[in-house]
Amino acid sequence: MRSPVFAVWYSVLMSGAEPLLVRPVRKELLAAARGSLLIVGLGPGHDLSYLPPSVTSVTAIEPNPVMRRVAGRRARKLGIRFDLIDGIAEALPFESDSFDTLLSPFLLCSVGDVPAALTEFRRVLRPDGELLVLEHIRAEGPMLGRLQDLVDTPWHALSDGCHPNRRTKSALAAAGFAVADLVTATFPLPTPVSPYLVGRASVDPHPA
Ligand SMILES: C[S@@+](CC[C@H](N)C(=O)[O-])C[C@H]1O[C@@H](n2cnc3c(N)ncnc32)[C@H](O)[C@@H]1O
Repeated sequence: MRSPVFAVWYSVLMSGAEPLLVRPVRKELLAAARGSLLIVGLGPGHDLSYLPPSVTSVTAIEPNPVMRRVAGRRARKLGIRFDLIDGIAEALPFESDSFDTLLSPFLLCSVGDVPAALTEFRRVLRPDGELLVLEHIRAEGPMLGRLQDLVDTPWHALSDGCHPNRRTKSALAAAGFAVADLVTATFPLPTPVSPYLVGRASVDPHPA
């Protein structure tokens, strides 16, 4: 979770992949952010480029010190003031009901304990708050999903704990988020980290 090598290669990879593959998706998703925004697993900080005026404050959690340095540099270039905190999704250092929006950007593939992280998301979000989801997930089709299962062990070792085959939509529903508005899409290049799940999830007042 704190590999400096991963932080460097991910930052370099994303400087190319972000404008090509991810930028329009992130931008559209972040347009829904409002009020106090918490970004968990900020990484190199691409989300900071797309903050809409409806966001009044930004706080971010990132456990990897090299990622924090890269994100801090990006924020300074953009002239953004925000709180960047060392921490993990499973134990967020905030009081309950602290945030209007929580962004989970390619994070849940890597967290050690997904149910614990999602319990924390619910706790720190205000009751009318919204979770913005952008997560790569296990493919539904038998071929690609099996392939993701096969590459999981080496991928996990090389990518600082990332699993390409997580069933994140079910995990969100099990944690009490309303997932009906989340959509599954694919990147235009074949990669083990496609498809992805994107959209807005509120706290479900009537969980199954
Ligand atoms: C695949 S990177 C994604 C980075 C960035 N969010 C993006 O969209 O490009 C995953 C990030 O989550 C962070 N991370 C991993 N496990 C975490 C945890 N348990 N809590 C918070 N962040 C975590 C990693 O350090 C890394 O920066």
